[in-house]
Amino acid sequence: MQTHQFDAIIVGAGGAGLMAALYASKGGANVAVVSKLYPTRSHTGAALGGIGAALGNLDEDKPLWHAYDTVKGGDYLADQNAAKVLAENAVDAVIELEHMGLPFDRTPEGRISQRRFGGHTSNFGEKPVRRACHAADRTGHMILQTLYQQCIKNEVRFFDEFHVVDVIMNKGACVGVVAIQLGTGEFHVFHGKATLFATGGWGRVWKITSCAHTLTGDGAAVVYRRGVPMQDMEFYQFHPTGLYGLGVLLTEGIRGEGGILLNKNNERFMEKYAPKIKDLASRDVVSRSMYLEIRAGNGINGKDYLYLDIRPSTVNRYLAEAGETRRVDEAYIARVLAETLDICRTYAGVDPLTEPMPIQPTAHYAMGGIPTNIDAEVVTDENWTVLPGMYAAGEVACVSCHGANRLGTNSLVDLVVFGRRGGMKIADYVKQADFVPLPANPAQEIEAEFKRLRSAKGKKRPYEIRKAMQKLMMDNVGVFREQKLLDQAVTGVHELRDQYLKDLSFDDNGHKFNTDLLEAWELGCLLDLAEVTAVSAAARPESRGAHSREDFPKRDDANWMVHTLAYRKSDVPYPQGNPEIELNHKKQVDVSLADVDPRFAPKERVY
Ligand code: FUM
Repeated sequence: MQTHQFDAIIVGAGGAGLMAALYASKGGANVAVVSKLYPTRSHTGAALGGIGAALGNLDEDKPLWHAYDTVKGGDYLADQNAAKVLAENAVDAVIELEHMGLPFDRTPEGRISQRRFGGHTSNFGEKPVRRACHAADRTGHMILQTLYQQCIKNEVRFFDEFHVVDVIMNKGACVGVVAIQLGTGEFHVFHGKATLFATGGWGRVWKITSCAHTLTGDGAAVVYRRGVPMQDMEFYQFHPTGLYGLGVLLTEGIRGEGGILLNKNNERFMEKYAPKIKDLASRDVVSRSMYLEIRAGNGINGKDYLYLDIRPSTVNRYLAEAGETRRVDEAYIARVLAETLDICRTYAGVDPLTEPMPIQPTAHYAMGGIPTNIDAEVVTDENWTVLPGMYAAGEVACVSCHGANRLGTNSLVDLVVFGRRGGMKIADYVKQADFVPLPANPAQEIEAEFKRLRSAKGKKRPYEIRKAMQKLMMDNVGVFREQKLLDQAVTGVHELRDQYLKDLSFDDNGHKFNTDLLEAWELGCLLDLAEVTAVSAAARPESRGAHSREDFPKRDDANWMVHTLAYRKSDVPYPQGNPEIELNHKKQVDVSLADVDPRFAPKERVY
């Protein structure tokens, strides 16, 4: 077994991981990035439409308005200090990306171009604002390329196609990780003073998802199994516009450019649900409205999908109706939504320039995750106790700037802002901290688990269990929820995990690139995260943001303005038969921007 030692170990090579690696290395740390993928294939590349920052290049804008939209969009559960940091740091983070060479689209005057996105407004909700800085509809992809180049320049060491399967703890600190090298099947130990998890989300828990096959929540599951709580897991976002049947993301930037949602009667139905801001309401509101339309029998061809229309004739008609002077043509749409056209033509055989796109809500983003403070330090309880040596940033983390529902573009902001802050914090930490020694045989338990998996001789293929889990979670823990369905989901996940533990089968016993084995491992992570999501959702009797309970349709600020912390009461680094999950709660950070402006105080959300 090889052991590698670095000051800082960054797990995951998406935007948050790369930004953290860059800043830790700039601060003098010796940094390794360990990633199951080649870095530029990370899921940040699927964030399409833009990164929000109040640059004010096209409309008047202020970070405080961005913070307000973020807090309101999150249905007032966000920690307002984190939302403030997000909005304020966004401005110089975007300018920094520009200076690193990110090829943003430009205004005629040569400034970074900006477009509208859901829930982003000027002057505390007055009207939509152009805040999303974009590079066509490939913004995340461009961020990855830019940051990867900077990391290479800064001599960050990359371990590509190393799959992290356990976190190593000793003397109350995080001291590194265990990874399997895909190409050889060998276990490697990475020993560090600081370890930052930036492993992304777990959208593959659900059947229809915009998330890559690789988004299996490994980082979250690995630390959860070693005693770190999962925060706010009940809040999982469905993006309104997934390509029908596949879930592939069609960016909100389409609506930002003037695209319209239509039902079978060619009605712009969002006028009913969000009369002021219409198609650009926040995602939770739009996704629920779509489900209601479909339930009312207004789906296209009697099915469970609707249309998104970006044909220039449609867009121009609505722009004229709204009294706007701007008009679009095919060449403009083809330039600013190039990826969209490509996706629809390739995967649906639909040309968005001449036909509306078939769409349905798609599982997209975890608001919950590993609890952190605003410097990406992992905290383990309601007293904000910091776990020495462990950090998290990006989607896997819950700094709670998004509260109960994230606004579009704020994921990219989150990963550059908190990835950068984490990298800086790590650079300081490793200067003064010593290496905590590794425990004896740090890979022993996880090696034994892989041995068990390899020799599984049951009847169930991993894909069969995965498919059943994805359907269960889609039907029972989706956009709308209720107690009976949530309880059934918990029981159903238990049954599936039982099959996983007792009846798994696969053929490949090899060591080199054994993707069957690693997919089986990922399924165990997904099952654990599905369970904690359903348990957390079943325990929150209110509707807030993306957690919409038909049996408790109202928000309950008196009792539920708190974060959920879910602890797995077992300390083995692999799935087990239903270990107890203890739920605790953490108060919001005691910083309210209502002291700055009374409009930050919780109220009913009207769009
Ligand atoms: O719609 C989009 O382009 C997605 C962006 C996001 O999730 O922030």
